[in-house]
Amino acid sequence: MSSSAKPIKTVAIIGSGLMGSGIAQVAAANGHQVTVVDQSQEIIDKASASIQKSLGRVVKKKFPDDPKAQQTYVADVMAHLSLQTDAIGAVKSADLVIEAIVENLDTKKSLFSTLDKAAPSHTIFASNTSSIPIKDIAAATSRLDRFGGLHFFNPVPVMKLVEVIRIPETSDETYSALEAFGKAVGKTTVQCKDTPGFIVNRLLVPYMMEAVRLVERGEATPRDVDTAMKLGAGYPMGPFELSDYVGLDTVKFIIDGWMEREPDNPLFSQSTLLNKLVEEKKLGVKSGEGFYSYDKK
Ligand code: 3HC
Repeated sequence: MSSSAKPIKTVAIIGSGLMGSGIAQVAAANGHQVTVVDQSQEIIDKASASIQKSLGRVVKKKFPDDPKAQQTYVADVMAHLSLQTDAIGAVKSADLVIEAIVENLDTKKSLFSTLDKAAPSHTIFASNTSSIPIKDIAAATSRLDRFGGLHFFNPVPVMKLVEVIRIPETSDETYSALEAFGKAVGKTTVQCKDTPGFIVNRLLVPYMMEAVRLVERGEATPRDVDTAMKLGAGYPMGPFELSDYVGLDTVKFIIDGWMEREPDNPLFSQSTLLNKLVEEKKLGVKSGEGFYSYDKK
């Protein structure tokens, strides 16, 4: 980190869904003081339960035969976390704000415009968006030099990567602070420009879409494609399992956004099957059905 960059100690995470709560968990587990914000107590309670469930899996691995150490670890992480509904209050003392809310540009801009007025001048803003240009979101603020992207992967406690995105205005100091934060939460960082899909999704989503097209052409079944990619290419999940895991609405949202920007790019073309499943609210694991069926717990 450059000598003038202030290390990030306090973090406000706006949005407590799968990504927001995962980021909160790894930040708190690595000694940051974290405030997670969402719209209602009910949502927050769900997020808190999901963090505790995930921590349960982490400690089982970390301290296999030591229930006392497991308890102490979970209590320590939870002591670094607070969950609340007041975004303005949360950012007032934050060194870093990470936004992980719904993938809607206007909603994100409106949020950041409000937070920009409330946060101290040194506070760095970052978005975890997977599909919206960072520069379009940053435009709602007066701190383009203190704005960047931090793109985490699901499940955040397990996936070891963070993509750190810079827009032309992102200062070196901000970039270094974001990169240092990624490393401090235990991840390997890679740098990428503000380009559609950054690195991982730019390669992964067209691959997932081509798998759907292959099935649409009647060339193989989803089950055989998944088996092929797991056993023939060493992927932990096949493309249909992964699409269901990520959420078919998310996959569609990403591809729709890219198609809007580059309508002639065949990599970004639509799939009738994917569109149909999303229309039927078959969104994958989270809805109980996508390409496959899941037990609702
Ligand atoms: N919290 C904590 N630990 C978790 C966890 C969670 N949410 N989910 C899984 N784990 C742990 C398990 O406890 C287990 O630990 P162990 O090795 O000590 O037993 C380990 O991870 C493996 O989990 P499982 O045994 O349950 O299952 P798998 O071996 O099948 O692994 C997986 C699950 C890690 C999800 C693996 O299948 C995988 O890596 N899949 C690919 C995931 C991927 O590609 N993610 C990126 C998606 S793209 C994205 O996120 C970008 C976005 O913008 C769309």
